[in-house]
Parts: sequence; structure tokens; C-alpha cells
Amino acid sequence: RKSLLVTGIGELTVNDPQAVDNSADRAGRRESRPEPASNTAFAVEDGKIAWIGLAIDAPAADEVLDVAGRAVIPGFVDSHAHLVFAGDRAAEFAARMTGTPYSAGGIRTTVAATRAADDVQLRANVRRLVHEMAAQGTTTVECKTGYGLTIEDELRALKIAKEECDAATFLGAHVIPAEYADRRADYVDLVRGPMLDACAEYADYVDVFCERGAYDEAETRLILDAAKARRIPVRLHANQLGHGPGVRLAVEYGAASADHCTYLDDKDIEALAGSETVATLLPGVEFSTRSPYPDARSLLDAGARVAIATDCNPGSCYTSSMPFCLALAVREMRMSPGEALMAATLGGAHALGRTDIGHLALGARADFAVLDAPSYLHLAYRPGVPLIHSVWKNGRKSVS
Ligand code: NIG
Ligand code: FE
Repeated sequence: RKSLLVTGIGELTVNDPQAVDNSADRAGRRESRPEPASNTAFAVEDGKIAWIGLAIDAPAADEVLDVAGRAVIPGFVDSHAHLVFAGDRAAEFAARMTGTPYSAGGIRTTVAATRAADDVQLRANVRRLVHEMAAQGTTTVECKTGYGLTIEDELRALKIAKEECDAATFLGAHVIPAEYADRRADYVDLVRGPMLDACAEYADYVDVFCERGAYDEAETRLILDAAKARRIPVRLHANQLGHGPGVRLAVEYGAASADHCTYLDDKDIEALAGSETVATLLPGVEFSTRSPYPDARSLLDAGARVAIATDCNPGSCYTSSMPFCLALAVREMRMSPGEALMAATLGGAHALGRTDIGHLALGARADFAVLDAPSYLHLAYRPGVPLIHSVWKNGRKSVS
């Protein structure tokens, strides 16, 4: 395979995990600290970062990419998305903007549309959104099921997610489907029994929407126990719409992440800070549901690991743009631009249990984005402006 040398870098963000972990400053270790890198270059071989150093010392390469003073960042890791669905809920969004609050009940609208769609349509929808994401600098995508809610519909969604995305999460416990409204326990038994049995082989994670209006603590425990029994790692939708047991459960079960974390009390923050569970913040949801934003500052200051992701889905947040979410995190959640970039890259990698992505240190996967800007600061400083010049995944150009 051809080697590639990247030169002319105006500013390079490496996010070296080693350096980040060794930093004495617990909060600061979660902040990207890019180098003004007019003299720095890096080389890619076999899809990995094979060399970083001064441009004058660069090894010979088959191909040279001169980025002409642009900034280079690790590709975004979007660790939370729901892409296997049909239709949209634009009317619901419009109603929300004139006062109707968001409710988990809207999920059922998308469940009906998704069940009615064929596999070709569902796969095309996932591809369309993954492509949108890539065009905005995302090189890794996690994708959940949760709009099928029958064995057959969840299984096909999970297979599509597994084939089209980098991580596939089984979310059979998204809401209780309408046909089970009067027999919740039967649906929970279906999810934790036959449905999980059918899906286990394809599930990188099991997720539960633990929330009033979705699954309560007892139901969530049953499903998490079933995942544990099958040795499938878990993550949780937690504390999105109100205070509740979700975050506490995520930490207790050693979940890879507790996602949303919009309504936290001191105990929740303490629990997250004392754990390896990543607090995944999804500020596009608060934007799109006109809700108060999570308290990122308290989480970071307590030393919790924080990720930012889109939550791309047709209901609570239909954006595929990590730069947009990063700008929201800076503007609305008092994260520094460096903290936001770290959360959107290395934070997401951590949430997906990946050590090879989210950074550009020696040996990392060569997943990076070249910005049409001299510094990563412009991502938040110039919100809404398409600043992605080109994107490289595994050392190959994926978008230009
Ligand atoms: O993460 N919270 C649960 N699920 C999605 C919303 C899904 C929908 O409204 O269709 C979320 O926000
Ligand atoms: Fe979600």
C-alpha cells in the first residue's frame, strides 16, 4: 500500500492519549492542545500514523499532500446516532417550536414508518447520513437500532448498522411499542429474551432509554442484566428529560457511556467522575427541543470523561454535523474550544472503547480532517460555515 506524507500543516492537533493521561491537571488533560505546526509533518503507512516530526526530517513517501497552511485535526468520532429509520418528523419539530414539548411518544411515529420501509430504503437512509457526517469531518459513526421493536425489524436494523457503521448498538428498549402498551412486562421479556438472542451476534452494545415515558429502573436492570449475561457491553440513554436513576445505573453496570446527562445532581456527577463511564453530551438535542443544556462545566471540573456526539435521529435532533455540536458545546455549555474538540474526538473514541482513533499519535489510525481554516478554533468561531476541506479515513481520502 502507498505511503502518504502530509506537509504544509498550519496547525496540528494530535491529542496524544499518553500525554493526555499523564497530565497532572485533571480537568486540563481533557483539552486538546494543538501545536502551531508550520514545521511539522506526518507520514501514513498501512492506514496508520507511521511517523511525526519536523518536515525537513520527513521520510520519502509515494504521495505528498501539501495542505498549504490548513489545520489538521483527528476525524470526529460520533459515538451516538440513530440512523436506521424511515420518514421524518418535520411537522413535530415545527409544533415544538411553537410550544408543544418533546415527548418520547414521537418515537412511535418513526417506528411505524420504519416497519413499513424495505431493507433497501433503510440502508440507503443510513448511507445518506453517514455520507453527510463524513462530509462534516466524521470518520467513525456509532449507530443504534430502536425503530423496529419486533425481533425481525430490530435484527434487520442491527445488521444494516453493523454493515454501514463502525459500531452497532441494539436499542430494542427504545420505547414500549404501541401493541404492547397494556403489557409492558411482556415486551421487556421479549427484548431481554428472544430479541436479544436473535441480535446478540451483531450487537457491539446494548442500550436502554431509561427515562420516564420509556423504561423505568426495574425494567432497565432486567435488560442490562440480560446483556451482561451474554457479555455484551452496555451504554444508556440517561437523564435526558428529567432527573432519574439512569446515570447511577450506567455507572453501576460499568456502562461505556451515559448519554444525554442533561439533568444531573451532585451524586450523578460524582459517580461519573469516579468511573470510566463517559458522559456523552448531545447539545444538538437541547437545541432542537429547546431545552436547557447539560452542565458540561461541572462534569469537566469534577474530572469526568466527556464526549460530544450528534444523536442524529428524526425526532429529538436531526443534525449530522459534529462541527455544529461542537460550536453549541462551546457557546452554550461553557466548554473551551479545546475541551470541545477533545470531547468530539478522543472522548468519542473512549466512549466506543477504541484506542486507535480520536488522536493522531504514532500508531493511530490515519483518520483525520483537513480544515479550510488556519486553526481548529474556527470550528466554533465560525459556526455554520462548511470548513471541512478534505477527510481521510484509514489513510485514504474519503471526502474532498
Ligand atoms: O436520543 N432519547 C431517546 N431517543 C432519541 C430520540 C428518538 C426520537 O425522538 O425519535 C434520543 O434523543
Ligand atoms: Fe439517542
